[in-house]
Amino acid sequence: METIRGSIYDYPKYYDVLFGADCAAEMRFLQEAFRRYARRRVRRVFEPACGTGRMLIRLSNAGYAVSGLDLNPKAVDYCNRRFRQAGKKPVAVLGDMTDFSLPRPCDAAYNAINSFRHVAEEGAAVRHFRCMAEAVAPGGIYVMGLHLTPNRPPQCTEEAWVARRGMLQVNSLMQSLSLDRRARRERVRLQFDVYTPRRCFRIVDEFDFRTYTAEQFRGLLKKAGGWEIAAVHDFRYDIDDVIPLDDCTEDAVFVLRRIPC
Ligand SMILES: C[S@@+](CC[C@H](N)C(=O)[O-])C[C@H]1O[C@@H](n2cnc3c(N)ncnc32)[C@H](O)[C@@H]1O
Repeated sequence: METIRGSIYDYPKYYDVLFGADCAAEMRFLQEAFRRYARRRVRRVFEPACGTGRMLIRLSNAGYAVSGLDLNPKAVDYCNRRFRQAGKKPVAVLGDMTDFSLPRPCDAAYNAINSFRHVAEEGAAVRHFRCMAEAVAPGGIYVMGLHLTPNRPPQCTEEAWVARRGMLQVNSLMQSLSLDRRARRERVRLQFDVYTPRRCFRIVDEFDFRTYTAEQFRGLLKKAGGWEIAAVHDFRYDIDDVIPLDDCTEDAVFVLRRIPC
């Protein structure tokens, strides 16, 4: 099979087929989290690292005023095109989630699928939470989904799934190649096998994620200031199931609440 080596995020069409296939549980969870955990009414929602806008478009269709930011110009274009095609104004801008400001604070924010772990250094991670503390109004919430590194060997180091949209099929394989707890780096390989009626090819990407134990994540929030942990859930997106945050926690969907610094 023809193999292309490059960033998966430069192929938003295929990314969106895979990650945008089933967002129903995530959407229900987010809307219920807004109602349960925010201490203000949620009307405006911001998504740092919004990618293709798979969640922004759904949130917009549900009546929220949305905006997003992403470092990848192809993802931003894809997101804005999807809004234009739906007869809406573009909502995404090119930007870095560790250095930005919003023209007006939002009531809630969402950061999914380990996007935050792309931020490689501690200083930049602190800057992210400080920017977010400016971006989210007091009483508002920030929902962040990421894999934590437990203090035992991780249970899951490989994940494969298939998604289809029309005549397009994408098979994906995600593998954790190595874990350096001291350097706080996890090497990840992501492979998309793309099948169209005319062509099939493979895209292979490798990148590093910064690792967080529960304690390191708590420490980061403390250092940044302005946030409390309102609740932790997991990737099943069950709003009635709050999970403990400890050395064993792996899949975590944090609901952070904006408090005075
Ligand atoms: C796993 S994707 C998630 C996209 C989207 N949030 C979703 O749920 O589908 C990660 C995204 O993070 C973006 N990204 C990585 N580092 C970033 C940074 N420093 N600032 C803004 N976006 C960033 C990538 O371009 C990519 O679109």
